[in-house]
Amino acid sequence: MNSLRLRGGRRLKGQVEISGSKNATLPIMAASLMSMGEVVLSGVPDLEDINVMSMALEILGAKVKREASVLVIDARTINNYELPESISRKMRASNLVMGALLGRFQRARVAYPGGCAIGVRPMDLHLKGLRNLGYELTEEYGFMEGKAQGIMGKEILLDFPSVGATENIIMAAALTPGITTIRNAAREPEITDLQNFLNGMGARITGAGLDTVHIEGVERLNGVEYRVIPDRIEAGTFMVAAAISRGEVFLENVVLEHLQPLIAKLREIGVDVIPKSSGVRVIGNHKYRPTDIKTMPYPGFPTDMQPQMMALFAAIPGTSIIVETIFENRYMHVQELRRMGADIKLEGRIAIVKGKTALEGATVEATDLRAGAALILAALFAHEETIISKVEHIDRGYEKIHEKLEKLGADIRRV
Ligand code: EPZ
Repeated sequence: MNSLRLRGGRRLKGQVEISGSKNATLPIMAASLMSMGEVVLSGVPDLEDINVMSMALEILGAKVKREASVLVIDARTINNYELPESISRKMRASNLVMGALLGRFQRARVAYPGGCAIGVRPMDLHLKGLRNLGYELTEEYGFMEGKAQGIMGKEILLDFPSVGATENIIMAAALTPGITTIRNAAREPEITDLQNFLNGMGARITGAGLDTVHIEGVERLNGVEYRVIPDRIEAGTFMVAAAISRGEVFLENVVLEHLQPLIAKLREIGVDVIPKSSGVRVIGNHKYRPTDIKTMPYPGFPTDMQPQMMALFAAIPGTSIIVETIFENRYMHVQELRRMGADIKLEGRIAIVKGKTALEGATVEATDLRAGAALILAALFAHEETIISKVEHIDRGYEKIHEKLEKLGADIRRV
């Protein structure tokens, strides 16, 4: 059951409820390791990546219970600060436990996360920031080992606004004595969600969402009940699904502010996007014009929406240009889109997409999470049948995607 069979050419219609954010939930689950009380998270999506992070927390000694979209985490009695390779290879984001373990135990031993299809994914910025705080970090035998050597809040400048590095440093700093200032911090909404969650536990953090975050270390963090933000990338994916199928879809459970970069681009193309108090309506049509995108740290255009936009560009006659500035190898979907007749030329980080009036059904493979989403979108446009294999990549980041698309009228089956 790891392939999707899709026949496109239908206009998607109806409404879809967006799930909680994967990339907000993962750091918040890691931060729960620092709580001396019970943490109750609601709006948690049912995704493979969340299951892997739950396994990581359990290996570290926490108790994790899921009841529908509520996750209850009790880390009061954790006694282990070593995360084995078996977990960190499964999911890179498990490296987010590093900052939490250092904060809680002043010790951590985390196996190096694997790279993945889209890039090497180094952690030099994470380690440099943590060393600034006085944690001594050694790297040997494939592990990163950290221990406190006179830790104290400090000024940290990130060479690049790395999301994970910002999150790891915030978590460690929350329990490090003194004031820590992170300059050139990542500004993604998931950072703000982590700040709000930690402050709910008794942390003293301000500035998330801007490029400078201030953290005043506290003695202890307590339990909290918290609802994670909706997933802006899942929302963006369904907005493109409405656009590419020339349908009309209403998305519920979105934060409009988080969708601004995408809304601006879709409007440039000629898609009707109508914000409402309870969500956003997207109405496709037959008069799109090509445009260009350059992926940038938030609030620029998100790299996690680049493959999905490429699928849309492939279906818009004319030439659209994509520049991927965040990851060095995030064009694995190009080869697969070409199998569907897409005309895409790659020049390093630049993709030149010559859109067409039709794409062809084909047998294609999901190489990574968002590449898989792009193939689904292209298949919604192709009139013949498309089979997408390795759907487990898609299941990592999209909750019940084929049921949600089926409900919108797509001819889609999991086989
Ligand atoms: C987060 O990854 C997201 N993952 C990614 O989403 C997202 O694409 C990325 O941020 C950028 O928005 C989660 O939140 C779990 P980065 P992260 O550190 O933290 C380089 C998805 O599809 N870098 O901002 O790993 C790095 O190689 C995933 O849900 C260093 O050089 O992203 C990359 O080129 C994919 N050294 C760039 O920065 C470091 O120490 C951005 O990485 C860290 C990062």
